Amino acid sequence: MTFSRADFPKDFLFGVATSAYQIEGHAAGGAGRTHWDDFAAVPGNVAHAEHGGRACDHYHRWEEDLDLVRDAGFDCYRFSASWARVMPEGRGRVNAEGLAFYDRLVDGMLERGLKPSLTLYHWEMPSALLDLGGWRNRDVAGWFADYTEALMRRIGDRIWATAPVNEPWCVAWLSHFLGHHAPGVRDIRAAARAMHHVLLAHGSAIEALRGLGLGNLGAVCNFEHVIPADGSEASAAAARRHDAILNRWFVSALFNRQYPAEALEGLAPHLPEGWEKDFDHIARPLDWFGLNYYTRKLVCAEPGPWPGLREVEGPLARTQMGWEIYPDGLAEILRRIHEGYTRGLPLMVTENGMASADRIGAGGVQDSARIAFIEEHLAAVRRAQAEGVPVQAYHVWSLLDNFEWSFGYEKRFGLVHVDFQNLQRTPKASYHALARALAR
Ligand code: NOJ
Repeated sequence: MTFSRADFPKDFLFGVATSAYQIEGHAAGGAGRTHWDDFAAVPGNVAHAEHGGRACDHYHRWEEDLDLVRDAGFDCYRFSASWARVMPEGRGRVNAEGLAFYDRLVDGMLERGLKPSLTLYHWEMPSALLDLGGWRNRDVAGWFADYTEALMRRIGDRIWATAPVNEPWCVAWLSHFLGHHAPGVRDIRAAARAMHHVLLAHGSAIEALRGLGLGNLGAVCNFEHVIPADGSEASAAAARRHDAILNRWFVSALFNRQYPAEALEGLAPHLPEGWEKDFDHIARPLDWFGLNYYTRKLVCAEPGPWPGLREVEGPLARTQMGWEIYPDGLAEILRRIHEGYTRGLPLMVTENGMASADRIGAGGVQDSARIAFIEEHLAAVRRAQAEGVPVQAYHVWSLLDNFEWSFGYEKRFGLVHVDFQNLQRTPKASYHALARALAR
């Protein structure tokens, strides 16, 4: 790596991120079914009909995995808890084994000198709640607050930072309008309700956490650098619509108590009645804000129903996901969020990384593209910092190759290679390079 710790402010934190369903192995430990188990059970939804039943078996191998985080020299570990592992039916009965697992896991982080950074919902909704409408039902906010309390009464005293929901755009839009993620719905009314209810749930969880006396609370959203694919006014307007739905909807609500006009154009008729009165509940003060950034998107107009847009392939080098590599977009989005929304609140890059088709060879796993990717994005973080943007942490996605949702296990994001036959972990060249940089 071309950087060392010394290039960053003294208290800057380096971390690595994972999520429960993607690594734990959901079949173990008395967890309830989730809508990802159900979605994955339908042919065609997930590549090679894969699912998170065993995943990386982190549920049994967590000590080895936390050793890997510590040995690389990371300061913090961003992980998530599974709602259905804590409450198998999503409400009511608590799974003692599940709570005990997170208890051990958090202690394991502290024993290794790692700061635990917890996400309460990283995408696996208990199936029993889906039967009641899941994110379409306004009651989800109360169910989520109850789960938050049940978990945090047990482990909250040892958590360093907490965010209720990972990437609300994916929870709502990708899953209820585009239908690419569980529950695989393509319905504008469901999407609009999910876009609002996910924010209500965020507000209810923050309220519950403050009620428990817990601090260092934040939110984590995903962003792409969106540009029009050509010089036409139609494409410029399409790019603004995409930007409004993806990049501005959530931060406008959380920090400016409104929804962006270009998104309301299509969504207002489908929002639940009285939505305008919910912003006090949604926009509770936060202590930090997290950005997940991977790529940029070129967008053009598409005839047909709102939002009338389509993504176009760009000319830049791509990752295994087919995503263009565009580090400048990270500096730009950090500036934009700081200036227009968070205005001085500490920012963290909560996810950044790339998938590559890594294989183990004689010399280990040579993932030089990932090394360059991380270097270039950290350079973008430094450019933003030099302009006064208060970025306080950077997390690589991900520690391990894992269940990449509808792409299954083929797309490898890990600093550590996982052989999904025997579950053996092999640190890649990027892991070793980062460990050297973090030790300097
Ligand atoms: C964002 C999500 O938080 C994570 O679950 C996913 O694996 C990565 N992006 C890569 O797509």
